[in-house]
Amino acid sequence: MKVSTGRPDEMAPGLRSLSYGIFCWLNRNIIVLRGFGAVLRRWPFVGGWLGMAARASAVKQVLLRPRSFSNTSHQANLVAGDYLIGMDTGPTYDHDRALVHARLDCLNVEVDANREAQDRVAKLRLTGAKSAFDLIENYLMWIVFRAIEPVFGAAAGKVSVGAQGNVADLGLQRQYLLEIRYVAGQLLAGSASTLDIQRRAELCAASLRARMQGVSGDIQKSWNVSDPPEDIERNAVGLAWISHPVTVQSAALVVQELLSRPNVYQALRLKAAEVGEPAVWSDVDFRKSVRDHVLELMRFRPIFPLLARDVPRDTEFETGGRGNAQCPAGGKLTILSIAALFDPRAVPDSGKFCPHRNWGHEVDLRYLMFGYGTRQCPAKDYAVEIMTIALIGLLVLPELRLASDDGKAITYDGPLMSRMQMRFA
Ligand code: HEM
Repeated sequence: MKVSTGRPDEMAPGLRSLSYGIFCWLNRNIIVLRGFGAVLRRWPFVGGWLGMAARASAVKQVLLRPRSFSNTSHQANLVAGDYLIGMDTGPTYDHDRALVHARLDCLNVEVDANREAQDRVAKLRLTGAKSAFDLIENYLMWIVFRAIEPVFGAAAGKVSVGAQGNVADLGLQRQYLLEIRYVAGQLLAGSASTLDIQRRAELCAASLRARMQGVSGDIQKSWNVSDPPEDIERNAVGLAWISHPVTVQSAALVVQELLSRPNVYQALRLKAAEVGEPAVWSDVDFRKSVRDHVLELMRFRPIFPLLARDVPRDTEFETGGRGNAQCPAGGKLTILSIAALFDPRAVPDSGKFCPHRNWGHEVDLRYLMFGYGTRQCPAKDYAVEIMTIALIGLLVLPELRLASDDGKAITYDGPLMSRMQMRFA
């Protein structure tokens, strides 16, 4: 979620590419942002000057004041049209949020993600020894898709292939998943992304809207609501792009972080082997342990290390230092979640990798990767569950490593990973 402090539209193209390049580099090299966050935590008045909240106490306070620090900061990046993440609280927001909760209630992640993960694991066992595979295209993308597509109920098939498509056409489904990835990418990269990237996101957004218009009758029927078509379309479009791409990308980041910790990876594989199949897919203790690992891995590599907020009227925020920082009306505030997640004042042994840490009364902070307070991600538990199941699948496979022998193992598309080539070690 890009913080637009300047006016990217007025930038010279070279400068724009440079600032986009720096933004993408920072996202890929999160340790640099962590270092910057540590400096602002140490001297919070500097964060106050720069309009950045870094200490855990400051970040929580800001996120608990959505009227003073508004989500409308996301609006400029919502290429597919308005959606609740960029709205201020009010009747439309309340309606859309209730709808998300109702749709999420229809998910059965335990069954759907498990089924797809087990299928994918079986396929990889057959092919993985022979050649490298793309963790995103051949594994994560589909597990997340099958787990989340029931948000569209009986209309799910038509949503993913279009009103006239064949619901079994994997090519059309893949096209849909790319379409929503580019739209979601715009939320992350924001208005500073290059014009080419913006144009791609706008084209995909137009096609996503047309897709939902074509099947809005089916969606309405399956959601069993009497909302006007524009409300159905807004929510269908929003739900599509906000759910899948972020979860896939987060899962890829989780795996990337795990592979950078060979001891942790080996210990988990060992445990998976001890539990054995098929119990490994349902064992409560093992599931809990993997879930704890997922959350800790996300802490080290969150997909949204920063969040932005608009400041609608003059206010102040508590930096955690001696004085409050002024926030003039019309300005922006940056929330450095990555700094708060490593704040030793709130997180015991914050620099250490401790999946089973006792968070004590800061247990809510553990989920800061999903936001905080009333605007926190409504799907956090579902997303963590899906990633846990996907990770369990990887733990029962032969040992994996990044396949850098055929060139770069990870290919980036802006701040997002588009390919992650892996092979059995
Ligand atoms: C690992 C996956 C995910 C991550 C890391 C994630 C992260 C986040 C974050 C950080 C926010 C808060 C943004 C802010 O305060 O500015 C958020 C909001 C939101 N997320 Fe997620 N999310 C994930 C998956 C999902 C899924 C699967 C859905 C499906 C419905 C979803 C729906 C939403 C919605 C609707 C909001 C806006 C909530 C509001 O403003 O009231 N997210 N998410």
